[in-house]
Amino acid sequence: MDRRGFLRTSAGAAVGMTVLSGLDAGTAFASPTTVADDVLSQKYPFVLPPLGYAENAVEPAVDAQTMSIHHDKHHATYVTNLNKALETQSALQGKTLRELLSGLATLPDGVRNAVRNNGGGHANHALYWGLLAPNGAKAPSGALAAAIMRDFGSVAACTAALKAAGLGQFGSGWSWLVRDGGGKLSVRGSANQDTPLTDGQRPVVGVDVWEHAYYLKYQNRRTDYLDAVLGALNWDAAGAAYA
Ligand SMILES: [Fe+2]
Repeated sequence: MDRRGFLRTSAGAAVGMTVLSGLDAGTAFASPTTVADDVLSQKYPFVLPPLGYAENAVEPAVDAQTMSIHHDKHHATYVTNLNKALETQSALQGKTLRELLSGLATLPDGVRNAVRNNGGGHANHALYWGLLAPNGAKAPSGALAAAIMRDFGSVAACTAALKAAGLGQFGSGWSWLVRDGGGKLSVRGSANQDTPLTDGQRPVVGVDVWEHAYYLKYQNRRTDYLDAVLGALNWDAAGAAYA
């Protein structure tokens, strides 16, 4: 079995179903310039793409055990529970993940929170894995770099704001660099798996600050985790999300 076949099989086994049937062979989080958008375009049944890079590829920022549990268990569970939530909702099965999350307020009461939590979890982690993919640009370029300079003054100021939002997020949540409809960038936090998509903003950078993202290596030191992850960002993925 070649490496891609192995990755597809392992990811499928992790969630106990044929998770990758709706994806083309090139879809993995190692191809960050397309995969986050691919996930937002998915419809029921939703599938978990493989990482496509080694679990230890982001060490020392993210240790292999955390990477494995986070992708193969936590993210997989969001996908499984999103599918469970929609299995009897035939009217919603034709909607893309992007449509579900940006239209949360229009969903039936009985399914809205399940989509908010598990659909948000699927979308948010899809961006995060691409932002961690190794061998990407170590600094922003092009239109994203220009927008960061315009709205923050420097890349360092932007990442400092992302760190502050991550530290300031009480309990579980995310730190975000988002783009509004006019192209303006800002930094914000969100609780749980809430996504800026629901507020009409496009996520450009998303840093998971749930303890499951860092506790095995960093314990209570969220600040050290944020420094490490913000220093390891794949800016190609951010640039693709901004464009
Ligand atoms: Fe997470």
